[in-house]
Amino acid sequence: MPYSVGLQAACAALLSAGLPVLFTTAIIVLLVIISVTSSLQKDVPDAPARLPIYSLFAIIPFFRRRFDFLNWGFQATGQSTFQFDLLRNKVIVVSGESARQAFFTAKGLDLTEGFKILSGAIPMVRGVTSDLQTKRISLIHKRLAAVQKNEQLSISAVIRPMLEDSRRLMESWGNSGCFDPFDNIYELVFQLTVRSLSCTEISDDPCLVSRLKKLYDTLDVGTTPATVLLPWLPTPAMVKKLWATKEIYDIVVAAITAREQSGVSKNDTLQMLLDSGDEKLVVVGFIMGLLIAGARATGTTACWMLTFLGGHPEWRDKAKAEVEGLLASQYLIQNSTIDSLSSQMAAIPLETWENETPVLDSIIRETLRVAQPHTAMRRNLGPEMHIDGKLIPSGSYVVYPFSDVHLNPDIYHDPWKFDPNRQPETKSAYNYVGWGGGKTTCLGQRLARVELKIVTALFLLGFRHCIVDGSGKVAREPPLPNWNDILLCRPPQGSFRVRYERSGDML
Ligand code: HEM
Repeated sequence: MPYSVGLQAACAALLSAGLPVLFTTAIIVLLVIISVTSSLQKDVPDAPARLPIYSLFAIIPFFRRRFDFLNWGFQATGQSTFQFDLLRNKVIVVSGESARQAFFTAKGLDLTEGFKILSGAIPMVRGVTSDLQTKRISLIHKRLAAVQKNEQLSISAVIRPMLEDSRRLMESWGNSGCFDPFDNIYELVFQLTVRSLSCTEISDDPCLVSRLKKLYDTLDVGTTPATVLLPWLPTPAMVKKLWATKEIYDIVVAAITAREQSGVSKNDTLQMLLDSGDEKLVVVGFIMGLLIAGARATGTTACWMLTFLGGHPEWRDKAKAEVEGLLASQYLIQNSTIDSLSSQMAAIPLETWENETPVLDSIIRETLRVAQPHTAMRRNLGPEMHIDGKLIPSGSYVVYPFSDVHLNPDIYHDPWKFDPNRQPETKSAYNYVGWGGGKTTCLGQRLARVELKIVTALFLLGFRHCIVDGSGKVAREPPLPNWNDILLCRPPQGSFRVRYERSGDML
């Protein structure tokens, strides 16, 4: 077992141990003491305003209703910067143009350390996906850049297999029906992400992909405030998460071992990683960590793109016409009676997907503005600094909610309205941060954009669709994104569905 990290043993021990009542009571008492002592602390004069609640009462709203909680914080303090405690962690929330600029450019603010207080849904294996040294993180980022080089992303390596996966899954939906995009489209994007970031041993096996998706879902559902803030506490949710992490780890390691033992070289990301000669832990960490980070962000965006297009037929028609134009300009449309849509699309060059789709580009941009409920997190690794004159001590956490810019009526008039034609009302480098900004911009953007375009293009040419409400009636407007759902921005379940009908062409 060359990669064994003892997870199995740890899980078994935790399961058999149980959770004595005494221990639970001791934890509660400890939390109350921490909460009361932190509220007694005296702040220095340049400290940000403090939320008028005991820190214990901030935990649940921060994790469960973040959008409402942070908005309430700005209102309750009447300030553009405020602070509160999450147990022993000082969290400072910033907003406004100059704070945004400082947040995205300050040297000492670290993203990886910042996400430790949020990212309980990423599988944590020490030395593989967590507690990584800077060197190992940069190596993973370097490999991610390599995955997105022209030759790797080109038609044969990524685009064609992704189109083939999309065709197979869309065929399985039948000629007509209704679905919740957060089930069907998310599942499709998960498959494409596994295809582009891992290996054929997993992506060619639908049962294994489905198992992997369930395990990552378990991590999402099992991420509670306690599992993030008190990861050493053996709650049932934590034990379930440990098991799921172990299973994901085993699936990835088994695929790597199968490839190595087969001695057969394949044209996929795993092969590129193995050929680079990296340590095995880097290969496992790359796949385990990026798979979910990539699938979640891309999946959420794809679900919302098709939802918005279903509720805005004028944009649906524009996007469809753009893709038809691409096929026509490649002289491919004449063969449309013989070739399936997916094989026609596979002949469109990568540069065309990337540079000649202004309508799809503006739809992606607007979707990210209205339906990406991200709160960026950083830890100040030192020295202490100031943002807008407020002290950010070393070791404290700083958070920036994207709603501050993307839903700001001074920057985006009527901000909840989906309008891909719009431009920000004000000029500033940071008035759009859909892919991040400054020293932390998205490193998977190229792959994500191609993936989003492929899924949307094939769906629009293969199907007609609209949005129906909970009672099955055609909705006049798409649903409003729920920014309190920090992963998917998902509206209440059952409140809407996508109704679709095949438009006749062979997928
Ligand atoms: C539609 C899909 C995606 C969106 C909207 C998105 C958005 C973002 C944003 C906003 C950030 C900055 C976060 C912050 O400042 O707190 C970020 C960072 C990052 N993204 Fe993405 N992302 C997407 C897909 C992907 C994919 C597919 C991958 C990998 C395959 C990826 C890998 C990364 C990495 C590694 C970083 C961290 C960069 C750093 O540490 O400097 N993303 N992304």
